[in-house]
Amino acid sequence: MKNEEIKTLLSKMTLEEKIGQLTQIRTSYYYNSNTSATGTISKLKFTKEQKWMIGTVLGKLDAKMMFEIQKEYLDNNRLGIPLLFMHDIIHGFKTIFPIPLALSCSWDEELIEKTARVAAREGSSSGYQATFSPMVDIVRDPRWGRVIESFGEDTLLNSIFGVAMVRGYQNGDLKDPDTLISCVKHFAAYGAAEGGRDYNTVDISECRLRNEYFPPYYEAIKAGAKSIMSSFNVLNGIPATANTWLLRKILREEWGYEGVVISDWGAVKELIPHGTAENSIDAAKLSLKAGIDIEMATTAYFEALPELCKDKSMEKLLDDAVERILLLKNECGLFEDPYRGISYEKEKQTLLCSDFRKVAREAASKSAVLLKNSDVLPLERSKNVILIGPYASNSSILGPWSLDGDLNDVITIEQGLINKNIRLEGVETTCFNEISKEKSEEIIEKAKRADVIVLALGEEEEKSGEAGCVSNITLPEAQIKLLRCMKKLNKPLIVLLINGRPLDLTNVIEEADAVLECWFPGTEGGNAIADILYGDYNPSGKLTMSFPRGVGQIPVYYNNLATGRPKELLKNEKRYKSQYLDVPNEPLFPFGYGLGYSKFKYDNLNISKKELSKKERISCSINVTNIGKYTGIETVQLYMRDKVADISRPVKQLIKYKQIIINPNETKTVEFTIDEKDLRYWNGENQYKSDEGLFEFTLGKDSSEGISFEVRLIS
Ligand code: GLC
Repeated sequence: MKNEEIKTLLSKMTLEEKIGQLTQIRTSYYYNSNTSATGTISKLKFTKEQKWMIGTVLGKLDAKMMFEIQKEYLDNNRLGIPLLFMHDIIHGFKTIFPIPLALSCSWDEELIEKTARVAAREGSSSGYQATFSPMVDIVRDPRWGRVIESFGEDTLLNSIFGVAMVRGYQNGDLKDPDTLISCVKHFAAYGAAEGGRDYNTVDISECRLRNEYFPPYYEAIKAGAKSIMSSFNVLNGIPATANTWLLRKILREEWGYEGVVISDWGAVKELIPHGTAENSIDAAKLSLKAGIDIEMATTAYFEALPELCKDKSMEKLLDDAVERILLLKNECGLFEDPYRGISYEKEKQTLLCSDFRKVAREAASKSAVLLKNSDVLPLERSKNVILIGPYASNSSILGPWSLDGDLNDVITIEQGLINKNIRLEGVETTCFNEISKEKSEEIIEKAKRADVIVLALGEEEEKSGEAGCVSNITLPEAQIKLLRCMKKLNKPLIVLLINGRPLDLTNVIEEADAVLECWFPGTEGGNAIADILYGDYNPSGKLTMSFPRGVGQIPVYYNNLATGRPKELLKNEKRYKSQYLDVPNEPLFPFGYGLGYSKFKYDNLNISKKELSKKERISCSINVTNIGKYTGIETVQLYMRDKVADISRPVKQLIKYKQIIINPNETKTVEFTIDEKDLRYWNGENQYKSDEGLFEFTLGKDSSEGISFEVRLIS
């Protein structure tokens, strides 16, 4: 349908039909129309007739169900406006990839795009047209369960990887049936919930929003994301879902966004417990005025808009929202083919095909981060290994938001080792939180017969994801006890971590000879972990979220401000400086950190000029030599510091990075260009600018070290 015809279609719609387009309910209400009139549908205020006016649905589906629902729906929809099917396809659909926080540790934009491309092919083959992804909320508090869905603490990485996901899902043309409409979320700053407690209050200066939290959403919509989701949280006093400054002034007027805005689950009616709406009528009015086009999972719009839209200005807002939703359906060709060419055959051939498993294995290998290695890895195949722990043969390694993943498809760590044909002395799967004395003694006896002990430890999946927030980020005591027990046997002791957040690893690091952060690695996790343990993949992951020494350090992140009393500056001052008396300020593992089997040496820094005028660019380069025995990937990071600005600026800010593959004894020169645009920021008067003056740049392998140089920006 031509976009001009959308207005004609809109003019034919009744008020009720328009309101229906703004409402999103579960697909389950359509599986069997006879039963769906009972149960939870009764809590939703709409009639059986109105059910055939609903605009979009979310939830469980396959190709056959989609065909049946869409057919019955179109048989009952007066104007033949098709349903649009949405879903949470967050890190894969049937082929599950590592959680996004893990994927971000690959620092591999192309790979991340590839995972979204695979997810779109699989999800669309099962009848979906849209996914509530990417999530690009900046996260600095590992107590929050949803750090798993983010790309970490850095603004640049969340921007780059969010855009890569949008490209992968939408593939440049939504008329292509193998694509998904992307929905960037959660707008805005959901990851800054106080105390790391989900749904909690967010209060952030506009300066910090603009410099640190907004850019990933902005870049994703500039990359073409056709929908955006409002977040549950209050933002500076007003819930995001009713925040006109956020949804109209910033998103529409300043950023020029023309796509659809969808509320998060129930967020419209949550305006009532937020205390900003007295009832559903209020909630509907505030949401529509603020700019919510689609109300997810509740029916305040159906309840309130027939009356509210007697006011012409409200009806205009309604018409604008309906038009955006119809345009979205038109974007993905639903008016031409409401089924987008799905078929059971196509679905069967697409889901979990061998090529997609290969992508999952590559992603899990590149997402793992080697935190410690006292020369015990890679393992020799001749050594006799015992595998112990709650994740030894546990297939629950997909992580939260893997709704369509199947545990039966998972390669466990045990299976991964078996596939390597190594000498596996034994496998002991233990409980997460307690190991009986008998079991412990039995394990010790078996472990005595092995040459190498591999512990597969971690968090239970439900301790992560939405509402999976914790006040304690250490491993369960039983796992630490097991670790200490094994340590006493004086054998090489390797710890594999399956978890969804930065943990306090203070105890683990002391006891283990090697620690590999595997995250929730997805369907091919076991194969990828075995690849790394035996050197078939040289670990290259770099942390994108700092690992605190303890929960007392939170929030701890690399791009903090200096303060007026920076510890580094006041070395002779014992007390009166910004510090803790009981722990260092630095995290246990910093942003950008990760080891490998190679050793990389940085030297021979070169800068084209020490002065940069606003109209030109300078270049800097560094030599990186692999002085190790293994070919490896190195991620060279370029950080910047604005020494004097209108506002206090971070002590370090990642502005560029490059990944290179270097063979043993090979040297590569890595070059970056810098221009004035790289130095801009938002000041307190909402001006986006750069300052003439001194800038410090650092080239290094992580945010805690590197080779620095200064450049002066001149007019
Ligand atoms: C959830 C999440 C959101 C998800 C939506 C639909 O509560 O906050 O990320 O996309 O509801 O499931």
